[in-house]
Amino acid sequence: MCGIVAYIGTNSALPIILEGLHRLEYRGYDSAGIALLRNKKLAVHKTKGRVADLEAILPKRIAATTAIGHTRWATHGAPADANAHPHTDTANKLAIIHNGIIENARELRADLIANGTELASETDSELFAHLIAQELEKAVEIERAKHGLLTDAVRKVLLRIQGAYGLAVLHEDFPNELIVARQGSPLVLGIGNNELFAASDVSAIVRHTQQVVYLDDGEIARLTKSGFEITNLHAQITHREPAQVTTSVEEFDKANFEHFTLKEIHEQPEVLERVLRGRLEERFATARLDGLNLSPRDLLGVKRIKILGCGSAFIAGSIGARMIESLARIPCDAESAAEFRYKNPLIEADTLYFAVSQSGETFDTMAAIEEIQRKGGRVLGVVNSVGSSIARSCGAGAYLHAGAEVAVISTKTFVATLLMFAMIALLFARTRDLSPAAGTALINAMHELPGQIKAMIDNDKDYRAHAKTLAAFDHAYFIGRNAGFGVAQEGALKLKEVSYIHAEAYPAAELKHGPLALISEQTPTIAIVLNDELEKKNLSSIEEIRARNGGVLAITQGEDIPTANLGCIKVPQTHPLLAPILALIPLQLIAYYAAIERDCDVDKPRNLAKSVTVE
Ligand code: F6R
Repeated sequence: MCGIVAYIGTNSALPIILEGLHRLEYRGYDSAGIALLRNKKLAVHKTKGRVADLEAILPKRIAATTAIGHTRWATHGAPADANAHPHTDTANKLAIIHNGIIENARELRADLIANGTELASETDSELFAHLIAQELEKAVEIERAKHGLLTDAVRKVLLRIQGAYGLAVLHEDFPNELIVARQGSPLVLGIGNNELFAASDVSAIVRHTQQVVYLDDGEIARLTKSGFEITNLHAQITHREPAQVTTSVEEFDKANFEHFTLKEIHEQPEVLERVLRGRLEERFATARLDGLNLSPRDLLGVKRIKILGCGSAFIAGSIGARMIESLARIPCDAESAAEFRYKNPLIEADTLYFAVSQSGETFDTMAAIEEIQRKGGRVLGVVNSVGSSIARSCGAGAYLHAGAEVAVISTKTFVATLLMFAMIALLFARTRDLSPAAGTALINAMHELPGQIKAMIDNDKDYRAHAKTLAAFDHAYFIGRNAGFGVAQEGALKLKEVSYIHAEAYPAAELKHGPLALISEQTPTIAIVLNDELEKKNLSSIEEIRARNGGVLAITQGEDIPTANLGCIKVPQTHPLLAPILALIPLQLIAYYAAIERDCDVDKPRNLAKSVTVE
């Protein structure tokens, strides 16, 4: 998704912006651009393609200490040089970069065209440049250097905009300032020594400063090299103390790994240790999740739980819902946040809602939260990014502390979310009828997970071999039952995202209701056979597939399955609640190695973005 990085200070802006753009690459994009102020003159360079393509067209040295840079992920208008950001006004005096979507673009565009403005791109974002220029023209009587003139012009335009924006504006007549604004699309300020940064993602600036201020919706910040002033859409000043960034610079480096994806898979044992740290009350055989802000009486009063998220976060929520329902015996389900928000959902006072998000910025999840809160419901966040929009709007919840996840696909945060839900299940279950002995058994199994996962990851030769086999196919099915179905869903999503093999997940029992028609030698099935009461039923499903000549690779916790002709991957025994976590590890690695085998850009799959901040 689009990325913003901006700088004003005393150092050379170009390397700072370019480095920031490289850091934002993981979010997914199709074009890149930069605008700089050099001797009070605006220079814009932009191109379709990668940041490396932008570097190739830049002059060798540009002496500028103020600049804005952007990576674009096409929404309005195809990836093209003209549609890349920054966009300028007709006089080429001001440049803007924009993340988000202007919903009333059609009317605004028509107004501009009616007034004789010639538009240079198909984007909605370009409208900002012309509208701000018009507002400034109206104020031409006022002394140009007046403090806040550019901010006022931006504010007036924002009041006409419907939609979402993370915006940065640069103007050659205002060389000592940079304006940024936020509505529904993240923006963080970085406070340096005689320099200020702004970015859509802290990863773009964390090398330079750890002191940040997260803008809230409806806020505009005027940055100069010596400070910042935040106002709202009514021009009222907001005071804000900087916060310390919790992510470390190393998290954005690949270390000795070839890809972030592999690095993050390898980090999982350590991540799970962090998820557990300080959160288990061994004495009472329960979990201690203070961030949820739920008293024992609150816990007891919850009659139903609903978990919301998108993509992998939704799948993690579905597995989490099964954990809670089976252990705590509270009705619990998960729903796609994008579907939920538009169905005019019934919100009940004794239902507790969880919003799951790695980035904490997913637009649809945010919208679902707003819908719940507007109707008086209580929603808690299960979020990785500290200080993100979702974390802040929920106000309470549990941080995953998985560290920055740079690869587009979620791996370590998915597994961390599952463990978090296992703890939430334990917490609820121990206020109901789960015995201390049963609670202790689960806690013991949780403590064993990091070691078990490490052993699996360190010994991944078999996974590579299976990945090689799968990489030769264009289609694959994943099947499982109950929690095993959740694993199948995530396994299929991982495989299709990174290797572009068409992969679909089905509850095993659904096979004969349709998908069996497509089973053939050309379509292998990965069967998740957990060591539960459904094991035998899963074995029957494998028989059905074999009878139609379909190949089967089984992920199993028990004995070898002779009918699985493509082989068996053994997963260690654990508490049944935690089995999905272990069953998923081989599937992550198989997806990774299949992508490598097929020569795919595993860290940045085509068309995908790390943080989906538009609808
Ligand atoms: C899949 C993946 C996506 C995200 C989804 C939600 O590997 O990464 O499906 O899970 O876009 O993102 P967050 O968790 O940031 O809300």
